[in-house]
Amino acid sequence: MYQVYIRSFADSNGDGTGDINGLRSRLGYLRDLGVDALWVNPWYKSPLHDGGYDVADFRAIEPRYGTLADAEALIVEAHEHDIRVIVDLVPNHTSIEHVWFQEAMAAPPGDPARQRYHILPGKGTDGSEPPTNWVSVFGGSAWTRLDDGEWYLHLFDHTQPDMNWEHPEVREELCSILRFWLDRGADGFRIDVAHGLAKDMDYPDDDHDQKLLVSSDRPDHPFWDRDEIHPIVREWRAVLDSYDDKMMVAEAWVASDRIALYLRPDEYHQSFSFDFLATDWNAEELETSIDRSIKASGVAGRAPTWVLSNHDVVRHATRYGLPEGTDWRTWLLDGPHEILDTELGLRRARAGILLMLGLPGPVYLYQGEELGLPEVYDLPLDVLDDPVWEQSNRKQKGRDGCRVPLPWTRTGPSYGFGSGDAWLPQPELFGAISVEAQTGDPDAILELYRAALAVRRDHFASDDDIEWLDSPAGVIAYQRGSGAQCWVNVSGTDMALPADANVLVASGPLDGVLPVNHAVWLG
Ligand code: NOJ
Repeated sequence: MYQVYIRSFADSNGDGTGDINGLRSRLGYLRDLGVDALWVNPWYKSPLHDGGYDVADFRAIEPRYGTLADAEALIVEAHEHDIRVIVDLVPNHTSIEHVWFQEAMAAPPGDPARQRYHILPGKGTDGSEPPTNWVSVFGGSAWTRLDDGEWYLHLFDHTQPDMNWEHPEVREELCSILRFWLDRGADGFRIDVAHGLAKDMDYPDDDHDQKLLVSSDRPDHPFWDRDEIHPIVREWRAVLDSYDDKMMVAEAWVASDRIALYLRPDEYHQSFSFDFLATDWNAEELETSIDRSIKASGVAGRAPTWVLSNHDVVRHATRYGLPEGTDWRTWLLDGPHEILDTELGLRRARAGILLMLGLPGPVYLYQGEELGLPEVYDLPLDVLDDPVWEQSNRKQKGRDGCRVPLPWTRTGPSYGFGSGDAWLPQPELFGAISVEAQTGDPDAILELYRAALAVRRDHFASDDDIEWLDSPAGVIAYQRGSGAQCWVNVSGTDMALPADANVLVASGPLDGVLPVNHAVWLG
C-alpha cells in the first residue's frame, strides 16, 4: 500500500498544491515502483486547517485538488494500472464549515441541531469553565466556547468539532458516505482516529496528559478506545460486505493487546501496528515489538499491518539518525539538530525497509520514503501550516517537515512537483535525491525499493508466520514459509555471511559480510 499525501505529491496546474490530476499523471511511476494500492489522504472539500482532516463536505472534492470527475477518473485509471484506491474517511469530526456545524451554531442552546456534536453548557456559576478538563491532542483545552456561552468538543484543532456517535443521523450519514465512495469504485477506506469516536457521555474529568498520536493504554478512558466503538464498526463492515472485495484499515493508536478487538471478523481487515513505528533502532526492542505485534494480531487470526512513516510522524530516515531515546517530536523544535547523523539514518532506513517488507502482513509506504527523503526539520517558523504549532502554543513544531512536496526532477521550479513554487519550501538537497536523479542508479534507495517490492511478491508476500533464526547478538534474523530469510545487522560489528548465501536483495554492498546497519534477504 502506498500513501499519497495528495497536497504534496504532484501539482498539475502550477498553483503550488498537489492535486488529483497530478496523481493521475504519475500512476505509471507507482505501477513501476510495484505498489498494489494507494491510500489517498483526505481530498474532500475543506478549508485545510488540518490538511483536509477538517472535512466540510464528504461528497465533494476540494477545488484545490480537482473535481469529483477527476477523482472518478483517477480510480478508473488506477484500476487500469492494477492499482486499487482506498479513500481516507474522517468520522470523528467535521470541519466547522460543515453544514451540520453551521446549523448547530445557528441554532439556540438545547436545539436538536446541536445534538449531532458534543455541545454542552460550561461549568462554574456563569458557565465560563469548559465542561471537562479534557486536553486536545494538539494541545490546549479540548473545548471551545460559542458566542452564546455553550462549549463544543474538539479532540483535535478547534476547527474540528467532534461528532456525537450516539446520534442516529450521524451513524446513518456515515454509512451513506461509505456507499457514495464505494459506488464510485473506491476499494475501501482508511478510517481516521478509529479509536476515538465514542465518548463517555457522562463527561467525567480526566487527569492524564494527551500526547500527540501516542497510544492510550488505559481501560475506560473517557474518549479513547471505548467498547462502544465496535458496534459502529460492524455497521460499516456490513456496508462494505454488501459490495465485492472491499476493505478498511483502522488508524487506531491503541495498546497492542487491544488491536485484535478491531480485527474481529465483522470489523476491520487491517489495523496499523504503530508499536513497530515507535520503536528505536535497537535489535532487542525491534524483535520484541515485531513479536508483540504478530501475537497481538494473531489473536484475531490476522497478520499485523506494518508502517514506518506517515504524514503524522518524523520520517524514519531522520528518526533512525537520532540517538536512541530522542523524543523526535520535541527534537524538531528544540534540537539540538547537530545530534542528527543523516548518513546513518539513511543507511538504517535502507536496512529497515528490508526488515519490514520481509514480515508477514500488509505494508504501508509513505510517499517519498522510497527516495529516502529526510524530515525537513528546519522549515522556517513562518511557513508552518500544521495547526499543532499554534494549538500547542508554539511548543511543538508539528508535522509539516514530513509533508514537504516530492522532488521529481533534479532541477526546475519545485523540482518537478509543479511549474511554480510548492506550498512548502523544499530544501536544495531534494534535487539530488529526486526521482529523476535516482532512477537507474543501482545504488539509489529508489532502486532498492523497486527491487525489494518485486522480490517480496514471490518470497515474502504471504501471511504465514515467521521463524526466528539463531543469530549473533544484535542481529535480527527470521525465515518465512517460502524458505526466504531476512538478516538485519543492528549490532556494532560486521557479521560473516555463509559462503554459499544466495542474496536476493541487499541494502548495500556486502563483500562476504553483512556490515553494521545493513540488511539482506537470502533465498
Ligand atoms: C489522524 C490523522 O492522520 C492526522 O493527520 C489528523 O490530524 C488527525 N487524525 C485528526 O483528524
